[in-house]
Amino acid sequence: EEGATVGILASELGFKGTEMIMHLMKLGVMASINQRLDYETLQAISNQFGFEAVRKLTLEEQILQDEPDDATNLLSRSPVITIMGHVDHGKTSLLDAIRQSNVMDTEAGQITQHIGAYHVELESGSVVFLDTPGHAAFTAMRARGAQVTDIVVLVVAADDGVMPQTVEALNHAKAAGVPILVVLNKMDVESARPDHVKRQLAEYDLVPEEWGGQTIFVEISAKERIGIEELLEMLLLEAELLELSANPNKPARGTVAEAKLDKGRGPVATVLVQNGTLRVGDVFVAGRYNGKVRAMINDRGHHVKNAPPSTPVEVLGFTGVPEAGDQFFVVGSERDAKALSEFRQAQHRATQLGPQSRVSLEELFQQI
Ligand code: GTP
Ligand code: MG
Repeated sequence: EEGATVGILASELGFKGTEMIMHLMKLGVMASINQRLDYETLQAISNQFGFEAVRKLTLEEQILQDEPDDATNLLSRSPVITIMGHVDHGKTSLLDAIRQSNVMDTEAGQITQHIGAYHVELESGSVVFLDTPGHAAFTAMRARGAQVTDIVVLVVAADDGVMPQTVEALNHAKAAGVPILVVLNKMDVESARPDHVKRQLAEYDLVPEEWGGQTIFVEISAKERIGIEELLEMLLLEAELLELSANPNKPARGTVAEAKLDKGRGPVATVLVQNGTLRVGDVFVAGRYNGKVRAMINDRGHHVKNAPPSTPVEVLGFTGVPEAGDQFFVVGSERDAKALSEFRQAQHRATQLGPQSRVSLEELFQQI
């Protein structure tokens, strides 16, 4: 954020320090000789004397440069779904129902591994579910600026109706600009009142299509495994409208969905690849840590060599345990990866020590 001092600016432009201070005063800037100037001021004063101020890229910007994708490089990708809803309305039961029906369809007997996310293969496409407790994970990720969810599935028990966490969840989704698909669960229960719940949700602008609205409602019973297939189809339909795409032919970027320290394997993290393709051997930075992909394991427990967009994989090879919501980037060299994670660790330590110690961190690392 901060640029050269008044003294440096003066010598660059060929003035004495006192002259520079005078010129700055004319611009309404009162500054001493050792004071750093912000970029706008540097630019204003440089322009006045026929020079141009060029902002130095930060270390982050230098290492994490990413060219925007050309439309011709984009391929469609699967939607990433987060399930949210009030306590006991059936989020876990729904995930179980989805996983079980899928496992039986595809790989009989295969035990799916818990990696915090999994994909469901359908005839017309596939869908990725973030399996971490919806609410907390969604909030944690949003707090760190990560946007991973394409669609929120809002589970509402048809017998219980809209409850405080239902409202909280729908507000989170709206704030993030993520479309909501409503699931009315527990339709097998006698006291289910779907129309009543629809009226409640209409007050929050979630109006079903049959009432002239835009929101997809699916009535299910997670317990009796009714309506699951229809829900999955609806998710694919909704995803089609979103025209989700990514470029598989470049270094990967993604987000850490969850991470832990494994006794035998060291730090492991489930990474959701969002753009590019992640490969074994890739060098990366994630939050304050870095590493080299030693192995990748998919949601079926299989080792894989590469992971295209919208693929959740467990990644081994981190130097430390990252946090949920950390951005994951493949970078060009181990040197860059190390430099950036060291910079971030120093920054992290500094913020924990207090504001004074932050002083010349950027400078310190400018030489790297
Ligand atoms: P938390 O994780 O505590 O927020 O709850 P949850 O939303 O994950 O709900 P969970 O799936 O644990 O279900 C809560 C209770 O509702 C359990 O006793 C389930 O068996 C029951 N349940 C879930 N789905 C259905 C359903 O479709 N019909 C009936 N009758 N019961 C259901
Ligand atoms: Mg649960």
